[in-house]
Amino acid sequence: MRTQVAIVGAGPAGLLLSHLLARQGVESVVLERHDRDYIERRVRAGVLEQGTVDLLCATGVGERLLREGLIHHGIELRFDGQRHRIDLSGLTGGRAITVYGQQEVVKDLIRARLEAGGQILFDAGAVSIHKIESSTPLVRYRQGGELHELYCDIVAGCDGFHGVCRDAIPVAARAVHETEYPFSWFGILAAVAPSTEELIYACHERGFALHSMRSPALSRFYLQCQPDDTVEDWPDERIWQELRLRLALAPAEAWSLSEGPILERSITTMRSYVVEPMRYERLFLAGDAAHIVPPTGAKGMNLAIADVRILAGALAAWYRTGQTGLLDSYSDTCLRRVWRAEHFSWWMTSMLHRYEDSFQQRIALAQLRYVCSSTAAATSLAENYVGLETV
Ligand code: FAD
Ligand code: PHB
Repeated sequence: MRTQVAIVGAGPAGLLLSHLLARQGVESVVLERHDRDYIERRVRAGVLEQGTVDLLCATGVGERLLREGLIHHGIELRFDGQRHRIDLSGLTGGRAITVYGQQEVVKDLIRARLEAGGQILFDAGAVSIHKIESSTPLVRYRQGGELHELYCDIVAGCDGFHGVCRDAIPVAARAVHETEYPFSWFGILAAVAPSTEELIYACHERGFALHSMRSPALSRFYLQCQPDDTVEDWPDERIWQELRLRLALAPAEAWSLSEGPILERSITTMRSYVVEPMRYERLFLAGDAAHIVPPTGAKGMNLAIADVRILAGALAAWYRTGQTGLLDSYSDTCLRRVWRAEHFSWWMTSMLHRYEDSFQQRIALAQLRYVCSSTAAATSLAENYVGLETV
């Protein structure tokens, strides 16, 4: 089989790239190692920046998002039993975020691609990438127990952090910058109406907690946990008890947490990671394949989408004119935004989590108090959270 762009991975990055390329007359095939049902159900991100929403709407895949997405104009920071609202819209000239599950974005993109006759091969895991230094690269993939080859002009590595594309770049041609955190996130989805209108980021001596949501009937929660915890360490009673304690307000504030059946639970490692450059010859990395941020800043999916917007434009220009300028600047252009988001996500994580180290604890509290009392500091948080237009 042959195509113009072989896209490895049907996450937000790979699917949106295929969609954007098709709109500009460039053909692609998407290879995905899981089945369709699995990727449409996988619960992950939930916060879309204004720019992400605008792009999805402008390219014809925002109809359900506009109908079902929840627009939020602020977030709450909670500590010392007090709530502090960050007025995202007031501080950023009216910009906002939209709460809409990543798997809903994935469903909308899969439907749009298949309706337009696009090719997504499910249960087709890429095994290896070859000849990326030549003008005829190829991806070897396994489907139905058999090995196949997909020939192409360009390989787009959109296969997430645990994919195979990044490793196709020779070790001498890439540099990795990374740091890990001494905690993980235990996340649940619960069938209960949210106990809040806006997201609550809570910093508590027992650890961080986040109250998010997916719909008027579905709540999403995260708890800071030990890096080696397993789902079995967290029976339902312990989860609700910790959420009640970490989200508690002073008695004068009449607020309580509603509980409900837990539908999904998972543990996420916290990591910051960037590989540079994001391109090697005819292989271009996008999204989590090239960079990871801890989820505290809600940036991962938004960055994946920002990458493929640049990549689609660069590839379309190359096919149209033969000029390589935009492809040559792809990595540098993306890395500016990536590093801004790396800093923001690291900063939010450091400010909101509980560290063992007493110096780190006091620095975090000082930063939190500053953000909640200075308009300049709150504006910095707000403009990064809703997404900077230029970086
Ligand atoms: P992925 O979504 O990982 O997609 C990669 C795809 O490639 C997968 O479908 C995988 O199955 C497939 N694949 C892998 N290897 C192969 C192979 N060899 N062959 C074929 N296919 C392969 N981001 C936000 O912006 N906002 C948030 O609120 C947010 N919250 C988060 C909360 C949690 C708990 C977690 C874990 C993440 C969160 N993120 C958030 C991050 C976000 O989910 C990721 O950044 C996003 O999924 C990246 O998209 P992607 O397309 O690059 O990679
Ligand atoms: C989510 O709803 O999944 C979510 C929200 C905010 C974050 C991370 C995840 O910072």
